[in-house]
Amino acid sequence: MPPGVLEEILAGLPVRSDPNLLVGIETADDAGVYRLTDEIALIQTVDFFTPIVNDPYIFGQIAAANALSDVYAMGGRPLTALNIVCYPSKTVSKEVLKAILAGGLDKVHEAGALLVGGHSVDDTELKYGLSVTGVVHPQRVLTNAGAQVGDRLILTKPLGTGIIATAIKGRAASPEAEAQAVAVMVALNREAAECLEGFTVHAVTDVTGFGLLGHALEMAAGSGVELTLSASRVPILAAAREYATMGLVPAGTFANRNFCQKSLRVAGTIDVVTLDLLADAQTNGGLLIAVAGDQAETLLARLHDRGVAAAALIGEVTAVGPGAINLKD
Ligand code: CO
Ligand code: CO
Repeated sequence: MPPGVLEEILAGLPVRSDPNLLVGIETADDAGVYRLTDEIALIQTVDFFTPIVNDPYIFGQIAAANALSDVYAMGGRPLTALNIVCYPSKTVSKEVLKAILAGGLDKVHEAGALLVGGHSVDDTELKYGLSVTGVVHPQRVLTNAGAQVGDRLILTKPLGTGIIATAIKGRAASPEAEAQAVAVMVALNREAAECLEGFTVHAVTDVTGFGLLGHALEMAAGSGVELTLSASRVPILAAAREYATMGLVPAGTFANRNFCQKSLRVAGTIDVVTLDLLADAQTNGGLLIAVAGDQAETLLARLHDRGVAAAALIGEVTAVGPGAINLKD
């Protein structure tokens, strides 16, 4: 995954560490985690972006669900949230902003968290998101860096929302495709995260801007392992494949694929469209879970029981190594 500009710049600055800082900025993880006591660690994360759908209420839901997801990806429970708003007051009405905030608030409440404030600035382009604070037991923090050889990999949502969002912007998406992508993007990762309790889960991350390949590569590099993914087992929205075949591939997805290429070993022939789908930049994508191999089928059954219908076994951790992905059909 292309390193973010913040990571790149902070790497040259004297950022402090602390024994209570359990997850800091160096591991490309989903959120920061700070131990307050032996029982409680604080999770902090922030995310906001420009509208990816036309309906303001749905956009608010998506942006909030996406920000909340990083708490779930660390094994935590969100407690409080702050609105972050960049608002072009001359071009966007208060009604539109109200609908966005209502969508966000509904997701905060669905997560069992409280909205406690926020901040807005005047800007030429509308942006919305949340800063979220959550809690986790310090011994039960899930990071992207603990995957072990023998683990199997589960992905909890289908890929393709980035490609469908591009089609929506280009007015090329069918209403059905848009509805499917929206359903995926507004769904909290709460159920999936709660299913993990009691299982030997070694690593978790959520699939967002770097796509499945990028986030899987972060997990592989952070864990010092090689992953083997079965492309044909990865759940993918059918319309996304259709639009990718038509060339509706967002620039971010293309950049992800290029970046991952050097750490990717492809066995047999995998077409470029499939590679684009595996690299597709997601918004509030599913959790990628590395679970002890002998518990994978039971965890998958629990996910399906709890309504995480698209969850699928998509690969395994196959070797120790500096971080690479083997891709087979
Ligand atoms: Co994340
Ligand atoms: Co994030």
